[in-house]
Amino acid sequence: MPHPLLDCARIDVLPEAFLPTVGEVFAVFARSQDSGNHSYGVRVGAERFFVKTAGPPDGLGGSLSHAERVALLRNAASLHTSFRHPALPRLHTLIESPAGPMLVYAWVDGELLGVPRERRGDPSSPYQRFRALPVATICHSLDTLYELHGALGRAGWVAADFYDGCLIYNFAAEALAVIDIDMYHHGPFVNTRGRMFGSERFMAPEEFVRGATIDGRSSVFTMGRTALLFLGDGTLNPTAFRGPPTLYAVLARACDPEPVRRFPSLEAFWSAWRVARAP
Ligand SMILES: Nc1ncnc2c1ncn2[C@@H]1O[C@H](COP(=O)(O)OP(=O)(O)O)[C@@H](O)[C@H]1O
Ligand SMILES: [Mg+2]
Repeated sequence: MPHPLLDCARIDVLPEAFLPTVGEVFAVFARSQDSGNHSYGVRVGAERFFVKTAGPPDGLGGSLSHAERVALLRNAASLHTSFRHPALPRLHTLIESPAGPMLVYAWVDGELLGVPRERRGDPSSPYQRFRALPVATICHSLDTLYELHGALGRAGWVAADFYDGCLIYNFAAEALAVIDIDMYHHGPFVNTRGRMFGSERFMAPEEFVRGATIDGRSSVFTMGRTALLFLGDGTLNPTAFRGPPTLYAVLARACDPEPVRRFPSLEAFWSAWRVARAP
């Protein structure tokens, strides 16, 4: 028997009308998403899926047009089609709808580490609960994140708009998943915006400069900042850093304001991190 979701290539009604006919819509991510995208958690039998859409063509959403949101979803689909990693929820299929593509991903259990600014100091937030974990547990998740990015870098991808809202952590299983890499760019590119999309806590200095090149060195900065936020105070303040000096040294090079002084690629950063992690 064909699967109502996975064997479907095209629908002629809107996603929000179609999805309740194939299963139980148990989660909706719509108005709260400043991206303008509308996404759904859908249960079909015992399986759960995360279905991501660009939202209604006439809907107001974020700073991007519907056509731009559709283009980003197609970009994500192209990344997921050519690249797989255990930390990336699998993209099962893409269904064409009158409102653009629906990307059907595996559902991931866990909590989003990115929380609104006003909750960031709250000890009960997933962000602070993650930061309070033992250094070894946090480092294990960073290993996963950096191994994934080493492989993405090798495949030619440059990170964009990565922040803690791209991380789902399962505290019980101690497993990290990376979502929403829709803005990742195949190959280096020029910053045409000035301040680019993204969370400033994770952005490299060149992501604020119109005309600057954004490449693997920018991604290295973002990855370094991630560790500094989880294991320190988000800066290179050595007294706030909970990890060993060997890791601090790798992060100091990764987060050098001058791109040329950083590791030249995500792969080089991942190798240096791996060596520094070795007992
Ligand atoms: N594979 C997934 N499994 C479970 N929840 C997910 C998955 N992907 C995303 N989410 C949840 O849906 C929210 C919106 O997804 P996201 O890809 O970030 O969309 P947007 O482009 O709207 O930011 C995320 O913040 C996260 O809470
Ligand atoms: Mg998001």
